[in-house]
Amino acid sequence: MSAPFEPGERVLLVDDKGRRFLVRLQRGSIFHFHGGAVPHDLILDSDEGIVVHSTTGGSLLCLRPRMADFVLKMPRGAQVIYPKDVGAILVEADIAPGLRVLEAGTGSGALTLALCRSTGPDGRVVSYELREDFHRTAGTNLEMFFGKLPAWLELRLGDVREVAETGERFDRAILDMPEPWGILAEIRGALYAGGILCTYLPTTNQVQEAVLAMQGAGFIDVQTFEVLLRSWHVTARSVRPDHRMVAHTGFVSVARKGPPT
Ligand SMILES: C[S@@+](CC[C@H](N)C(=O)[O-])C[C@H]1O[C@@H](n2cnc3c(N)ncnc32)[C@H](O)[C@@H]1O
Repeated sequence: MSAPFEPGERVLLVDDKGRRFLVRLQRGSIFHFHGGAVPHDLILDSDEGIVVHSTTGGSLLCLRPRMADFVLKMPRGAQVIYPKDVGAILVEADIAPGLRVLEAGTGSGALTLALCRSTGPDGRVVSYELREDFHRTAGTNLEMFFGKLPAWLELRLGDVREVAETGERFDRAILDMPEPWGILAEIRGALYAGGILCTYLPTTNQVQEAVLAMQGAGFIDVQTFEVLLRSWHVTARSVRPDHRMVAHTGFVSVARKGPPT
């Protein structure tokens, strides 16, 4: 159920050219953009979908941000996984409510957000990050998105291979880090039988090294794909693909933990 915009929450502002801005609403504040100035008070207490006008005639559509809007606008340390790839990872790695998910590296927390939403409070997400600055940025982003850190999430500062020392077991392991092939024994040990491993890598040589290593480390049913998403321009006069697209981002590989060899 929708409620009027309140102080402290984030609003997505879309101008008449489709440019998008993420703004935290505060009484008495003013949002400045190339189209002029808009007092936050014009938006506060209004319902989603309202269009407000600036002092110089620019207009802004006011919406609550979707997770994908938030991820593309939130502060970044590491490069985030694009929403098109996040969607595919959630489906192909079969992330579901109640599952225990291991993640590395946390980076900016984009995938962590989606993992937390999909596992829900009955699940558990443990996410490792090597770099303290990224670990902190991700924590801030997650708090910003959820209002507070989800109780079922644990952000750990350190190398994901340390999970082997904890004795914990997971249903899924999602690795967005440059050299996953070096830690497959630890990841395999941390997965339940039949558990799913998913890697996300930007280059073909990394994918080849990772997939060969997965096969050698007792992972089975290994599949690799990429997602090409092309947006379209649709008007009464013409329907055509947009001129620009985010073409290559990364390759997703998904595998199952095989039986002991
Ligand atoms: C591309 S970023 C991850 C981005 C993240 N998936 C997101 O959507 O925001 C890769 C991260 O992996 C971290 N990393 C690399 N090796 C790691 C390891 N062995 N354990 C934990 N984190 C690691 C890096 O510091 C970096 O922040």
